[in-house]
Amino acid sequence: MFPESFVREYLSTYTSEGDHVFDPFSGRGTTLLESLLLKRHAAAVDINPVAFCVSGAKAQVPRLSLVLRRINVLEHAFHSGDERGVKSKQKYLPPFFRQAFYHTTLTELLYLRSRLNWKGSTVDRFVAALVLGSLHGERDKPRQYFSNQMPRTISTKPNYSLKYWRKHHLQPHKRDVFGIYVTKLFTRLSREVPSTKGLVRMGDARCAGSYFPELSRKVSLVITSPPYFNVTNYEEDQWLRLWFLGYQPHPTYRSISKDDRHVRREKYWKFLQEVWAGMSPLLKSGAIIICRLGAKGIDQKELSKGLRSSVEQAFPGTRLLKKPLVSKFVTRKHALSGQVLRGVYMRWTLFSRLPSPRNRRQSKVMCCAFAIYRSSKAYSTPSR
Ligand SMILES: C[S@@+](CC[C@H](N)C(=O)[O-])C[C@H]1O[C@@H](n2cnc3c(N)ncnc32)[C@H](O)[C@@H]1O
Repeated sequence: MFPESFVREYLSTYTSEGDHVFDPFSGRGTTLLESLLLKRHAAAVDINPVAFCVSGAKAQVPRLSLVLRRINVLEHAFHSGDERGVKSKQKYLPPFFRQAFYHTTLTELLYLRSRLNWKGSTVDRFVAALVLGSLHGERDKPRQYFSNQMPRTISTKPNYSLKYWRKHHLQPHKRDVFGIYVTKLFTRLSREVPSTKGLVRMGDARCAGSYFPELSRKVSLVITSPPYFNVTNYEEDQWLRLWFLGYQPHPTYRSISKDDRHVRREKYWKFLQEVWAGMSPLLKSGAIIICRLGAKGIDQKELSKGLRSSVEQAFPGTRLLKKPLVSKFVTRKHALSGQVLRGVYMRWTLFSRLPSPRNRRQSKVMCCAFAIYRSSKAYSTPSR
């Protein structure tokens, strides 16, 4: 989990209004949104289309009137017979879908799936992100989620869900997709909305430098959390949301990201090293990198060594400022998988010379990590 308070603390300590902040692993866009709300310039990358869509919607909030007009046009076209083409597509979907959604809800979702240009249009991306936010969750929360009982955070696997629904005699409720997302729209826009816009790209963190030539040597703070070592598979966890964005109607593995869940240590540290090096063209002299990660099955010593060497390889001359701080053993719940994890928190501060043409001011790389020694089985019921 990447709490807003964590991001805000570092933003206030290390940046001022107008500074540039960057996140190479955007996820649900926490760094991006918090930076924009505090009037910093913000940019982010993520390889997963769900993360791109959700972060993009936070970074570029369209005018309410434009979104309402788009929803009206879609709804009108749907009710004027435009839905006929998609209705027949229901029968080609795996059985999971007919148990996951009421048949009229599924037709509405199929319709929006075929019409929303979330890659190319800011308004459509915003509407798609609203649908993603309501696609699955607790069945009995009134007018909240479209699906039969599922967790809100991750999409449970089809066979698991089917068995669970059968065992508990659960059928999906009828939901009015258009109605729900208009309600969501007002809730979303009544919260604080950034007055400036951020930049988001869908792509590999290792190429971040090339995605944002306009940010060359401008970024003064990076706040990020890379995929944890051997913990989560985002592509699998988000399979139903990926389906809504046009991808496969079943979980897929390593077809979107090969870096979601590293299990080989050397490869993981090499990946991080390449990420640090890949974003270095964006960093200005004296830039600070805050990295928060977690790792399962690696002891403190190895975690410390691997992370340090990934930074040292990318930024030669890096040295450790203080001995790493290591907490007592603690227990916590993983936000996505629901696993109960037991481990220690560690915090390092490294000094390095990040590449800079003129000024050779020192930069700080601060890392905190949660070394996981024991974990429970993942969630056992879709409701969690
Ligand atoms: C720990 S999550 C980031 C969480 C984020 N800080 C938030 O606020 O939600 C890691 C993210 O890395 C993304 N990812 C995995 N491989 C990647 C790659 N090669 N390049 C960019 N993003 C990647 C995943 O899609 C996932 O969204």
